[in-house]
Amino acid sequence: MGGLARLEYRGYDSAGIAVGATQSLTVVKAVGKLANLTSELDTVGPLEGRAAIGHTRWATHGQPTTANAHPHTSLDGDLALVHNGIIENATQLHASLLAEGYTFVSDTDTEVVAHLLAREFLADSEDGDTVGHGVEIEGVPEDAAGTAGALARAMNRVMSQLDGAFTLLAMHAEAPGVIVAARRSSPLVIGLGKNENFLGSDALAFSEHTQRALEVGQDELVVVTPTAVTIIGVEGEPATKKFLEIDFAHDRVTKDGWPTFMEKEINEQPRAIADTLADRLDAEGYLTLDELRIPSEVLRTVDKVIIIACGTAAYAGHVARYAIEHWCRIPVEVELAHEFRYRDPVVNEKTLVVAVSQSGETMDTIMAIRHAREQGARVVAVVNTPGSTISRESDAVLLTHAGPEIAVASTKAFTAQITATYILGLYLAQVRGNKYIDEIQDYLDKLSEIPGKVSEVLKRGELVRMTARTLVDENSVIYLGRHVGFPVALEGALKLKEIAYIHAEGFAAGELKHGPIALIEEGQVVIIIVPTPRRPELHRKVVSNIQEVRARGARTIVVAEDGDESVNEFAETVFRVPPTPTLYAPLLAVVPLQVFACELATAKGLDVDQPRNLAKSVTVE
Ligand code: F6R
Repeated sequence: MGGLARLEYRGYDSAGIAVGATQSLTVVKAVGKLANLTSELDTVGPLEGRAAIGHTRWATHGQPTTANAHPHTSLDGDLALVHNGIIENATQLHASLLAEGYTFVSDTDTEVVAHLLAREFLADSEDGDTVGHGVEIEGVPEDAAGTAGALARAMNRVMSQLDGAFTLLAMHAEAPGVIVAARRSSPLVIGLGKNENFLGSDALAFSEHTQRALEVGQDELVVVTPTAVTIIGVEGEPATKKFLEIDFAHDRVTKDGWPTFMEKEINEQPRAIADTLADRLDAEGYLTLDELRIPSEVLRTVDKVIIIACGTAAYAGHVARYAIEHWCRIPVEVELAHEFRYRDPVVNEKTLVVAVSQSGETMDTIMAIRHAREQGARVVAVVNTPGSTISRESDAVLLTHAGPEIAVASTKAFTAQITATYILGLYLAQVRGNKYIDEIQDYLDKLSEIPGKVSEVLKRGELVRMTARTLVDENSVIYLGRHVGFPVALEGALKLKEIAYIHAEGFAAGELKHGPIALIEEGQVVIIIVPTPRRPELHRKVVSNIQEVRARGARTIVVAEDGDESVNEFAETVFRVPPTPTLYAPLLAVVPLQVFACELATAKGLDVDQPRNLAKSVTVE
């Protein structure tokens, strides 16, 4: 249950476990958050067993009901299965199983696999505990050897019948200490303990118990017992064990006295930015990115950068675009990962694709990376989760050191992503000779002042929180920004939508008079991100935009620099941020918007960390 709690960020509309004791499986499920399953287990009483599988669900096929919750079982109840991902040929398989007389109690694609596995298990005619090309399954007690072998062979055959992405974990009543697992395009890692082993879709699930972990490769089959792990490769051969470095100290995954993870993570931003910036210079002051295993000659031939990401990570990409184009004079496109590959994008060996992802497991982004690499592009991943699928599938990885982000709404990952993509931009400028070393040092010096300035913004949070509490009854909030303030407006609006369930839209301030201004009526709340007055051509225009909405009755909340008094006349409330270079302003301006959304949602009594309908990692397309 502790492991499931750590994975709850992946989905929390229902949950369930199966526990295997001698000759019997007990399955307990509950709709809603994990706490409901805990209560349900309390009524069942203590369960004993030698192995268990568990799942928290984010509904794809069928509503969040107890029947649709995992584990799913075979008709005889002897076999239990949990599944992440989507089985794309589930409809066809369902039809053929129905024709064979199988009945279904759920609407899920997972139950199809449970029946398929049971069918293959019963049809297994071999003896013994070998699988693949005679690979012997280790650590299985003699009385369970036949069952474990049959289950592993059944899983092997089932895999070849499935299309789509999946991680599957199964157990059988007659082999209660054995878990058989398989993965294709969905994550699965193994944790190695002493007389205990673990499987998780993220190492976080078992980081409390062990930090020794093994990767499971694409299409590999795994048999885990308390004392042994057997991995079988795609061709049925024994697979080489690949160890994973896990560096998450598990005490970093607690609220540390904060009421919510989101508040804690907003307040961790100074450290997240500083850690992402740390140790990037060599003795001579050159920016070094050892982890960027792409030779400088290749980076010098790059003629286009495409940033691919989703949601908040894509907004970080939009911010990065302004900086990379300015510093490196290379065209930068920013594309939502799920749109990218269906657009037939122009990508070749001279394209540098930058994939930005907190989790490193977003399926849309993974698919876009694969598409880009097939076309010959080099892919640099900017990820927060070491060892994640995206980091493994990219040519190079630039880690954001934000630490685990647990709240569903992304905050510290966003500012760390901007920081990391800026480092990448400066590195490209250095390698390609667009900037001299002293210029780059100057940019980095100014960037290193940002953590202190973010701390300053956080100290001023009370005005933001007070303002938020007065707006709990709003139905709509508009965000405006220009230049790098535009993606900040989009991000501010997304935060409010996802945790406070208030309709919010971010617009480019210049776009206002091309349509959105029609939305402004008496009392409409508009939040405007004002650029520094040291960029008068930008500043002047945004101040005019504030006047335009104000003239039409809007209630204006303005994010502006200290000392910028020109906004006072048109702003109902001003959230102040310390002066900073234009390109770095998003790292400060977004902070009050995060605090605002968090406080407003809290004041509405909502679950800030786990908003409805969402999951932290979107592991299906
Ligand atoms: C919003 C949010 C999402 C993610 C998006 C990408 O607060 O968290 O929009 O940014 O789902 O996720 P990652 O970065 O894990 O690829």
